[in-house]
Order: sequence, then C-alpha cells, then structure tokens
Amino acid sequence: MNIHEYQAKAVLAKYGVAVPSGKVAFTVEEAVNVAKELGGSGVVKAQIHAGGRGKAGGVKVSKTLADVEANAKEILGKTLVTHQTGPQGKVVKRLLVEQLTDIQKEYYIGLVLDRAQNRVVMMASAEGGMEIEEVAAKTPEKIFRETIDPAVGLLPFQSRKLAFSIGIPSKLVNKAVKFMTGLYTCFVDKDCSVAEINPLVVTGDGDVMALDAKLNFDDNALYRHPDIEELRDFDEEDPKETEAKKFELNYVALDGNIGCMVNGAGLAMATMDTIKYYGGEPANFLDVGGGATEERVTEAFKIILSDEKVKGILVNIFGGIMKCDVIANAVVAASKQISLDKPLVVRLEGTNVDLGKDILNKSGLNIVAADSLADAAQRIVGLV
Ligand SMILES: Nc1ncnc2c1ncn2[C@@H]1O[C@H](COP(=O)(O)OP(=O)(O)O)[C@@H](O)[C@H]1O
Ligand SMILES: [Mg+2]
Repeated sequence: MNIHEYQAKAVLAKYGVAVPSGKVAFTVEEAVNVAKELGGSGVVKAQIHAGGRGKAGGVKVSKTLADVEANAKEILGKTLVTHQTGPQGKVVKRLLVEQLTDIQKEYYIGLVLDRAQNRVVMMASAEGGMEIEEVAAKTPEKIFRETIDPAVGLLPFQSRKLAFSIGIPSKLVNKAVKFMTGLYTCFVDKDCSVAEINPLVVTGDGDVMALDAKLNFDDNALYRHPDIEELRDFDEEDPKETEAKKFELNYVALDGNIGCMVNGAGLAMATMDTIKYYGGEPANFLDVGGGATEERVTEAFKIILSDEKVKGILVNIFGGIMKCDVIANAVVAASKQISLDKPLVVRLEGTNVDLGKDILNKSGLNIVAADSLADAAQRIVGLV
C-alpha cells in the first residue's frame, strides 16, 4: 500500500526524522490558511501516489499568499501527468502546503529489500532530486550501499560511512546519522517495502531534512498496522480492486470479454490458457480463494459484471475444502440476487460434484453445467 507524501512525513516525524512544517489542504482556502500559519509563504505540492510531480508542474514555490492562492487554484483538480502516473495521469484532490526550505544541497536516501541477500539495504547518493533509476543506469558508482543485518539493525558506523560517502558536511554528519536511524527504525517497525527520501536536503540553517518522502507498505503485514491502514486513499486505487480487497478477493483486469471466477491462482492461469486455446479472451480473473460463501460469490459476480467488456462468465472452481454443492448453491443464489442476464458456464470438480451439478441444472436459471475445463471453455467461447 502507498500513502501520500504528507502522511509519510507525519509517520517519519514520529521517528525523529526531520521534515519541514506543513499541513494538508483540500481546498484553496485551506491552503491559504496553512500558508498564513507558515508566515505568509510556502511550497504548494500536489498529493498523488506518484513521483515526478515537480517536473510536471505539481510543486510550486509560492512567496506570497497571493501566489499560494493562485498555485493552489491551478493545481487542485488538475490532472497531473508524470512519468509515474501513466498517460491518463492522476487528478489532484489534496495539497501539501509546507515551509519554503532554504536548500543548500539535495541528496538521495532509500531503503529497499534486497531479495538476493534477504536483507534491507540502505542506498545513498549525492545525486538528489533526480530519478535514482537514471543515476543507477548512467553512473552506478554514485550510489553507495550498506546492507543491514536484521539482528543488530543499522549501525551508526554504517550511517556515518554513507553520510561521508555522499559528502554531507562533516559538522552535520551526526544529524544525518539520526535521520538515517529514524528512517530505518520506521521502515522495520511499520513493515515498509520501500522508503525513499528524494531529496534529503541540507538547509542554510544546518538542518538535515526530508523534503520529499515516499513510503510503501507490505500489504500482507497491514493487519499489524491499523494506524497505517487508516491512511489508505481509495481515490488513488482501482475501484474494482478496492471492492475485491474488501471481500478478500483477488481481481486482475485484462482485455478480453470473458469474466473468470476461479479459486486459486494456478487454476486461474490454467483457465485463461484454456479459454485462449479455444479462441476466447479473458476479460479478467477473480480469485475467490478457499471459502466461497454466497456473499463472496455474489460480490465476485458484481465486480466481474461491473466491467462493461464482460459478455459472459466462466466459473471454474475446485471443491476441495469447500464442497461443490455449497459452491453451486452460492452461484445460484448470487445469480438470482443480481438477476444475471449474461451467459454463465460453471465447471465444478471435487467433493459432491454430482450434487453440485444437479443443483445448477435444477435451478431453473440459464446456467450451463460443464463436464470438464475443456468443455467449459469451448461453451463459454461459443456463447460470447
Ligand atoms: N518545502 C520545499 N521547499 C523548497 N523546495 C522544495 C520543497 N519541497 C520540494 N521542493 C523542491 O521541489 C523539488 C520536487 O519536489 P519533490 O517533493 O521531490 O516532488 P517530486 O519528486 O514528485 O518531483 C525538490 O527536489 C525540491 O527542489
Ligand atoms: Mg522527489
């Protein structure tokens, strides 16, 4: 999960990471009020889940309240297209108005999981404010790395080494060490998958602070962090995927016209391969997981059908833990509840499969109970 810059800064501040003062604003008026609190000026920053905002006109230095107002008006509601948003861009609904910082120099600090080493790695570079991917491609020698042993955590000598390598002024190294220690502690405490400070800056007053902050969290660990989960911004996520997550369903959108409801990712792959083999194209797949209750099957149908491209549905479920009759009842009840009017082919296999097929055939609904995956795929391809 991703959060906004202003939220990441608030999380980091609790770990002693220095950030400029500032506040979120949802309207132009709020933005002006924040700037008043900051002394009549500020930087107006678009809050979207994507970087590259500066270059796209989403970060504006505003020296007067009139500037803040004009810039807030311009950015709020605008569709910002950056190299990370894709060509469709993202609509700006929130702003961060923060203190105009006197930047002496910009640096880069990042934390990622190095899967080859099974360790967290801290990366640092004097090439701050630029895309780190570009630095890595063109001048990899300008990126310094320290691998962190989880048993002891980030050691002060490692932070000092990084700080010296990137040329932090020596009298500010202790501040940089405090910064890096806070960043690492936050990363581990909150189960982050990525933490990126680009730029980290040294200011005219001799402060070391995060001017930008990006935190990504491991979705599988979110249950341990209700405070982080609360920061979720659904406006930034695909509504169908959001709906699916609410019911613990995994939804993946594709380009064809056959909706696929399956249990298990392996079965999903096999189902899509078979559909394609018989000349069809899957529109999506939705993995209902182990417990296919009526409620979840109904939600799954609704999500699949909310995609206008879907002209028919193939349900392919293996009744192992779940019995086929229970699944068949759920499919029938869900079809009735949403008055399903598109072709539906169901292939069940596993415990109580005959009973399951019987329920489908006697439902009085227009459901085709298929005998095998090949049979099911051919039928749905013929019906759409
Ligand atoms: N509070 C601030 N004060 C002064 N300059 C800023 C401030 N915040 C950002 N900037 C400038 O704008 C640039 C882009 O901002 P940043 O937050 O990194 O957005 P993005 O990475 O999305 O472009 C920074 O590299 C910095 O030069
Ligand atoms: Mg940045």
